[in-house]
Amino acid sequence: MSLLEVRELHKSFGRGADEIPAVRGVDLELAPGETLGLVGESGCGKTTLGRMIVGLSAPTSGQILFGGEDVAGRLHEPRYRSRVQMVFQHPQSSLNPRFRVSTTLSEPARLLASESAGASSSESIRETLRLVGLGEEYLSRRSGQLSGGQQQRVAIARALMSAPDLIVLDEPTSSLDQSIRSRIISLLKDIQKSNSVSYLFISHDLSTVRRIAHRVAVMYLGRIVEISETNQLFDDPKHPYTKALLSAVPTLDPKKDTERIILEGETPNPTQLPTGCSFQDRCSLVHEACRTQSPSLANLGSSRQVECFAVQ
Ligand SMILES: Nc1ncnc2c1ncn2[C@@H]1O[C@H](COP(=O)(O)OP(=O)(O)OP(=O)(O)O)[C@@H](O)[C@H]1O
Ligand code: SF4
Ligand SMILES: [Mg+2]
Repeated sequence: MSLLEVRELHKSFGRGADEIPAVRGVDLELAPGETLGLVGESGCGKTTLGRMIVGLSAPTSGQILFGGEDVAGRLHEPRYRSRVQMVFQHPQSSLNPRFRVSTTLSEPARLLASESAGASSSESIRETLRLVGLGEEYLSRRSGQLSGGQQQRVAIARALMSAPDLIVLDEPTSSLDQSIRSRIISLLKDIQKSNSVSYLFISHDLSTVRRIAHRVAVMYLGRIVEISETNQLFDDPKHPYTKALLSAVPTLDPKKDTERIILEGETPNPTQLPTGCSFQDRCSLVHEACRTQSPSLANLGSSRQVECFAVQ
């Protein structure tokens, strides 16, 4: 059974002529212990989707099911709040710089009150700190005194304190330099091996997504246009947008590097989307049907779905 199922999820901001449909009917599933990468250009709706899944933002419509139970709008309830956590791009903005690490890590259990009070024991705090690769000496340090990489480890440790089933990681390594980024990715994989937590890993950095994700969802203008097992997606992308996105990523084998596809045209204004496929003005495969009908995600083989008339 899936840990998480998202069905026909929509989120709009603003009203009338200014309404921005940020997420437009997303369906996805996540299994226990699985990492789903979420990629797509800036403004396509990745953060908005992640925020709805952790309950920081209410959907306009649609369902968010945990273990088959619809929790949309109820994630603030204590019994659900501990199950999903979010880690943000800039740890310095999500951690209080004056708080000692020990206070930061005891906070989640204090907020969740009685039922998980045991989790705030100093032994479990030390154990979680060890899990993120920091020694006990960090307990008395203030977050503001730590490096960016150490702060992100503390932010991950804080997310782990409530023993969540799912962590949404929104660009968790983009503000870190390459070597620290790599260590954080290894750390996240080790944590997942030891406790089977699931990750929704949002990133612009496709090489990092390839390293950590079991499957990858590609988003364009609020919709998932392709979702596939990771190696399959990188080796043989199907949707014209996925092809363009991946053509910019260098591979380790120069013979496999494909020519970079430069997308023509601009991303349409989300308040004035065209009828039909929203990728039509940038697509080299566009044909008549794309101007009048909207494609929907369809199975292409057992582990891939694509939303494009040309490949269905
Ligand atoms: N609070 C808000 N009020 C109004 N519009 C918003 C709000 N949050 C997001 N949007 C709009 O919704 C769309 C999706 O934004 P979102 O931040 O989810 O994109 P993203 O894929 O995370 O982008 P990035 O890669 O830059 O982080 C954008 O058009 C954005 O301007
Ligand atoms: S449906 Fe048509 S316009 Fe849209 S991506 Fe496919 S071929 Fe291109
Ligand atoms: Mg974002």
